[in-house]
Amino acid sequence: MPRFAYVNGQFVPHQDASIHIEDRGYQFADGVYEVTPILKGTLIDEDPHLDRLERSLRELRIDMPMSRAAIKLVSAELMRRNRLTNGFIYIQVTRGVAPRDHKFPKAAKPALVMTTRQTRLPSEKVLNEGVGVATSPDIRWQRCDIKSVSLLPNILAKQQAVEAGAYEAWMVDAEGRVTEGSSTNAWIVTGDNKLVTRNATNSILNGITRMTLLKVAAAEGVTLEERPFTLEEAKTAKEAFLTSSSNFVMPVTRIDDQPVGNGHPGLLTMRLREGYLDFVQGGETAH
Ligand code: PDD
Repeated sequence: MPRFAYVNGQFVPHQDASIHIEDRGYQFADGVYEVTPILKGTLIDEDPHLDRLERSLRELRIDMPMSRAAIKLVSAELMRRNRLTNGFIYIQVTRGVAPRDHKFPKAAKPALVMTTRQTRLPSEKVLNEGVGVATSPDIRWQRCDIKSVSLLPNILAKQQAVEAGAYEAWMVDAEGRVTEGSSTNAWIVTGDNKLVTRNATNSILNGITRMTLLKVAAAEGVTLEERPFTLEEAKTAKEAFLTSSSNFVMPVTRIDDQPVGNGHPGLLTMRLREGYLDFVQGGETAH
């Protein structure tokens, strides 16, 4: 069965999908994207993801390539054609195709690509052990709140982390405070059980998983602090974890090869993972 992609108005076999060589996404990384998770055949937090897509586009003065309703219809059709159960939909919008010139083209139409990927949920083994993160300086620009396809610093940080045997990179700002992961948000639990994650400013991407988890945690009566935390604080935290559309809530048990807490996934972390999964699958906890 061929896998389909949607490219500028057409469903095409994934292997034949292509864009023009003068697409500004390809030339300049002049575009944005969204990754919306699919769990047991259902899109998770579709509207918040589309809200963020619209916001990213607005910040870059790129028009929505088609209406939100049309994007939803295409998403549903791609999921049906590709028989998606667990995985994600990837949506990318660029400023369009135009002769290479830095300034905005006058007449380009935004280009839209949508693809899907089937993935497996993390194994029990991974969840029981947690993952390691390796830290590196955050060398990104000052608009990390925009979900831009320009991800060079993120991929360099991730590659460095993987080469150090870690699962993810945690990036650290000039003041020694953790910003976020290369494609995830960073969280810690303090010795007195406060849940801490960086406040959503221009220095991080405000994760949709992050926002939903904040609601779940508040509904569970967890004390929250949205503020920057230092690497030092993270290394001496009781628990740590990361969140994203592809990981949901993933325990972090090593930071730069030092164990976090007792070196095992934390109790609150695992409670929040369950609470999150219940909530997004229709549970009532955080309503
Ligand atoms: N990454 N921070 C960054 C830099 C990210 O790229 C992402 C998402 C997140 C978490 O956001 P969310 O909870 O909305 O997925 C935080 C996606 C999954 C990716 O690039 O594949």
